[in-house]
Amino acid sequence: MTTTIDRYAVFGNPIAHSKSPQIHTQFAEQTKQSLIYTAELVEIGQFEQAVKDFIASNGKGLNVTVPFKEDAWSCATQHSARAQRAGAVNTLVLQADGSLFGDTTDGIGLVRDLMKNHSVTIKDKDILLIGAGGAVRGVLQALLEQQPASLLIANRTKHKAEQLAEDFSDLGAINGCGLDEINDACFDIVINGTSASLQGDLPPIPGTVFKTAACSYDMMYAAQATPFMQWSTGNGAKQVFDGLGMLVEQAAESFYIWRGVKPETSPVIKQLRQSFDQQQNTE
Ligand code: ATR
Repeated sequence: MTTTIDRYAVFGNPIAHSKSPQIHTQFAEQTKQSLIYTAELVEIGQFEQAVKDFIASNGKGLNVTVPFKEDAWSCATQHSARAQRAGAVNTLVLQADGSLFGDTTDGIGLVRDLMKNHSVTIKDKDILLIGAGGAVRGVLQALLEQQPASLLIANRTKHKAEQLAEDFSDLGAINGCGLDEINDACFDIVINGTSASLQGDLPPIPGTVFKTAACSYDMMYAAQATPFMQWSTGNGAKQVFDGLGMLVEQAAESFYIWRGVKPETSPVIKQLRQSFDQQQNTE
C-alpha cells in the first residue's frame, strides 16, 4: 500500500520571503501531524490551474497571499461568514466532494495576538485603525466582536474609510474619517493597517493620538522596529508591537481549520523573533 503525505502550501508572487513554511512545519512537528507545507511561486493568470495541479498531487489546503486573494475568492464555491464580511479569502480547504471552501483568519489572528499574547483588553476601549484597504477590512469584524467602546477608521482617502465604517456599522460603534480629521482625539489602541511601512513610510497622524498607557500595533513586521513603531514610542505609546504574532496566530487558525488541532503559537513566535535577532546581529 502506498501512502501519500498530505500537502499544504502558500501561493503568492513573490513568495520567497514567506515565513509560512517555517511556521506550519513547526506546527506539524509540535502536533505530530504528518504533512508537508511549501511556498509556491505562481505565475500571474495561472492561479486556477496551479490549484488544480496542487490538488492532483495530494494538496489538501492552501494559504493565499498577494496578488491572488481575488482568485482565491473565485476558486472557492463556499465561503465562511467571516470571509464574506471581509470580502477576502486567505485559506482554502479541500472538501470531501472535491470543492474548495474559503475562509479568512487575519481578523482572529490580530485579536488573539493582542489579547492572548500581549494581554491587551479590547472591550470598552477606544480604537483608532489607520488605513482602509483589504488588510483593515479583514480585521474589522473580529475587532468589533470584542465590543470596543468605539472604533474610528482613519484613511488618507477619506471616502474609503467612511464606506468601510458604513459596511460594518451593524456590528458596533464604528466611524470613518480622513487622516487630517483625527485632530486631538486620543485612543487606547492605535493600529496601523496601511501598507506605508512597506515603503518605509509613516501615515501622517497627530502625535497626540495616544492616551496614557495606550498600545500601538503595526500589522507589518520586520527585523527592526517599523517607522510607525518608532514614531509611536517617540510619541508616548506605552506598549508597541509589530504584526509577527498576528502572522503566527492567523497561521494557527488555518492549521486548525485544516487539521482540527490547535498548535501552540508562543514557541513559534519566539523562534521567529530569535531568527530576526540573529539576522540583525549578522548584518
Ligand atoms: P492592503 O491589502 O495591504 O490593505 P491596499 O488595499 O492597497 O493594501 O490598501 C493600502 C492602504 O494603505 C490604504 O488604506 C492606503 O491609503 P489610500 O486608501 O488613501 O490609498 C494606505 N496607504 C498606503 N501608503 C500610505 C501612506 N504612505 N500614507 C498613508 N496611507 C497609506
